[in-house]
Amino acid sequence: VAEILGLGMTHFPGFTRGDEELRIGTRMLMKAPRVDPRWRDPGNYTPNMIRELGGDDGLTAARNHCEWAWGHFRAMRKRIDEFAPDFAVIIADDQYENFKEDIIPTFCVLGLDDVFEQKVWTHRAYRNYWNEPQSFVYPLRGHRDGARCLATGLIERGVPMPYAYKTLHDPVLAHGFSFTVLFLDWERRGFPHPIVPFHVNCYGSNVIRAKGATAHLYQEPASEGMPDPPGPSPALCMDVGARMAQAILESPYRVVLIASSSWSHCFLSPKHGYVLPDHETDRKLFAALKDGDYGVWRRQTLQQIEWSGQHEMLNWFVLAGAMSELERKPTSIDYRETDLFLSNKCFAVFD
Ligand SMILES: [Fe+2]
Repeated sequence: VAEILGLGMTHFPGFTRGDEELRIGTRMLMKAPRVDPRWRDPGNYTPNMIRELGGDDGLTAARNHCEWAWGHFRAMRKRIDEFAPDFAVIIADDQYENFKEDIIPTFCVLGLDDVFEQKVWTHRAYRNYWNEPQSFVYPLRGHRDGARCLATGLIERGVPMPYAYKTLHDPVLAHGFSFTVLFLDWERRGFPHPIVPFHVNCYGSNVIRAKGATAHLYQEPASEGMPDPPGPSPALCMDVGARMAQAILESPYRVVLIASSSWSHCFLSPKHGYVLPDHETDRKLFAALKDGDYGVWRRQTLQQIEWSGQHEMLNWFVLAGAMSELERKPTSIDYRETDLFLSNKCFAVFD
């Protein structure tokens, strides 16, 4: 019998680093040429930054930030194992990794091989939290029929849904997907559940220009011609999520829907000069999600999302659309703000 478990988490790359490196966080961005030079003076730090820096240059706060998330990753993994899904749909973004100038799909679902191997650290030369070498191979499982089922169900419901059976440029999945699995397997017992990556073009008109991250802080944006086309609106993401839930409920599958991203990212938010996340808007969306007040989410515009550096939350909007369709609100939810570690984070379970 079809069943859906909803989860919201993060794939924050900072958690793949040791605490020593995590604590550098936002301060590395403050040196970027297109960031207001006043941030180079610690006299201008916010009270939050000063509190997080503490007496050890942020080491304790970095450790706490990581341990808090680690607790949630473990709890979520336990919940997924208990639920015993046929597959897990990971809703995440591509940051100029798999999708580049040859095609930028608004959404794309990947039906991967039954068993495939990932050299997850190929593009990450730094020492990672687990001390795994760059040659480390992580085995994963795909679920082609699951991807077919989603694409078919969405197309039948009016969503012109693209799909693919292999990655485009690189055998390694975009980090939004691979880090989600690595975090759900924090203790490295292996991740036996097949995954169906569901890509959302969260970076919209910035994906090529900013190379999916921080390039816009280091170089003047290209000014010729029109801006690149936008990502999907929050309402469109919610519609797709709602239809995804309908399609799954008509399938034979037990499915975990995992939205994976941090909330407001400081380096994407012009609101506070690319140095602070937009706590105010994150709090508003958190309160609404907690109450299951999805109208607040649906009314957010893409312009508001991008002003707040909440680009990657479009992944959560797909999940919110599905949960709204199922008339569910979170059975547990937790949220944490930071002025030092680049982005606010939220964890939610919709049992
Ligand atoms: Fe991301």
